[in-house]
Amino acid sequence: MLRSAGDDDWPAMRRLAATCFGSFRDPDTLAAWRSMTRPDSVVLACDGDDVVGMAMVLDLELTVPGGRLLPMAGITWVAVAPTHRRRGLLRAMFTELHRRIIDAGYPIAGLLASEATIYERFGYGPATVETTLRVDRRAAHLHPDVPRADGVRVVDPVEHRDALADVYERWRRRTPGGLHTPTALWDDVLADRESARRGGSQHFALLHPDGFVMYRTHVAGTGKSVEVTKFTAVTAQAHLALWQTLLGLDLMETITVDTHPADPLPYLLVDPRRIEKVADEDALWLRIVDIPKVLEARTYASDVDTVLEVVDGVLGGGGRYRLTVRDGRAHCVPSTADPDVRLSLSVLGSIYLGAHRPSAFATAHRLICEDPSAPSALDLAFSSDVPAELGYGF
Ligand SMILES: CC(C)(COP(=O)(O)OP(=O)(O)OC[C@H]1O[C@@H](n2cnc3c(N)ncnc32)[C@H](O)[C@@H]1OP(=O)(O)O)[C@@H](O)C(=O)NCCC(=O)NCCS
Repeated sequence: MLRSAGDDDWPAMRRLAATCFGSFRDPDTLAAWRSMTRPDSVVLACDGDDVVGMAMVLDLELTVPGGRLLPMAGITWVAVAPTHRRRGLLRAMFTELHRRIIDAGYPIAGLLASEATIYERFGYGPATVETTLRVDRRAAHLHPDVPRADGVRVVDPVEHRDALADVYERWRRRTPGGLHTPTALWDDVLADRESARRGGSQHFALLHPDGFVMYRTHVAGTGKSVEVTKFTAVTAQAHLALWQTLLGLDLMETITVDTHPADPLPYLLVDPRRIEKVADEDALWLRIVDIPKVLEARTYASDVDTVLEVVDGVLGGGGRYRLTVRDGRAHCVPSTADPDVRLSLSVLGSIYLGAHRPSAFATAHRLICEDPSAPSALDLAFSSDVPAELGYGF
C-alpha cells in the first residue's frame, strides 16, 4: 500500500534509511532536509504497520546554462527494505511520486544515484560529472608563468557565514547544476557535527572576496592529508589564489578535492602528473518533465532547427518537438513532422547541461540521426561556456 508520510512516520523512515544506507542520519541534519519538503513530498510503501519503502522530493532550484533558475524536484531517500526488494516497490513509488511532481508543476527532476544502473529506466540521465583529484602537495609547484594571487584569509567559518553564503550564491547563479542553499542547510553544514567529520578535523575555511574553500585535515596514522569539502570560486583569480594557499599548507602531504572535468588546476602546475585523478563519476541525474519549458530555459551556443523524437520508458514522458534556436534562445513546440533526431529522455537529460556531448551518444547509437553533421552541430549548440557542476549532494 502506498501513502503519504505523516509526522509519526519519521522515526521509522530514519530507521529504514539507516538499514538501507548503512548509517543513521543525525536528527538535526534530518530536520534540516525535512524543512525542504512540502506536504505530500514523501511517498511511503507499507506492509501492514511497517514502512518498507520510501521516496522523497526536496524543493530545489537548479541553474541551467545561461543562468536561468528552474524549480527542481530533488528526489532523495529512495529506499526499499531488504525484506521487500525486487517486487516492484520502487517502480510503484516512482510512478506515484512523478505523478505528484507533475501536479506540483516541477518542469524538471533530479537525483543522485547510489548505483548507475537504477534510474535510466525512469528517464534520468547523468548530467554532471564529478572529478576527484588528489594532489601530491609536496611535489606540486606552481608554474613560473603563474602570477602571485593574494586576497585569501584564514577565517572562522561560523563568523564568516554571510560572506561564504554570498560567494556560494554568486557561484551557483552562474554555474549549470548550481542549487539554491536554504538557511537550514547552511546551519547544518556550519554545525560541523562530529558525525559529519568521518574521522577528519573540524572545518577550516579560506575566504577570498570571490571564492572560498572549506576543508578538513586527517592527521592520525601515517599520512597528513587535506580533504577539501567545498571549493567555490566565482572568478579565475579566486581559483588561483585559493589553490596557492592550499599548496602552501607545508606540513600536508596530499590534498583531495571534488571538482568538474574542466578544472584548470593542472595548468597551474609545473608538473601536472602530481595530480592523480581518483575518479570521474556521475553526480546529478536529470529527468526532463516539461520538455519545451526546460529546453527554452537554457541558452545555446549556436543556431539549431531540428525535430526531436524523445522516447521515455516506464513513466511515459517524452514526445516529438521542434527545437528552433536563434541567437542563443530556443523556441520548442510539439511537432508531427518527421524527426531528425531520436534519443531517449535519459540522453536528453545527459546533454542538457553541456557536460556530455551528443556526438558521443551518436557514436554509441543512443542518439540517432540521418544527417551525419547533426551530432557535431548539436555538440556546439548544447555546449556551455561555464562547466556544469553539482551545487551540493542531496
Ligand atoms: C534501489 C532500490 C530502491 C530498488 O528497489 P526495488 O523495490 O527492489 O526496485 P523494483 O523492484 O521496483 O525494481 C524496478 C526495476 O529496477 C531494477 N533495479 C532495482 N534496483 C536495482 C539495482 N540496484 N541495480 C539494477 N537494477 C535495479 C529492477 O530489476 C527493476 O527492473 P525492471 O524495470 O526491468 O523490472 C533498493 O534496492 C534499495 O533500497 N537499495 C538500497 C538503497 C539505495 O541504493 N537506494 C537508492 C538511492 S539513490
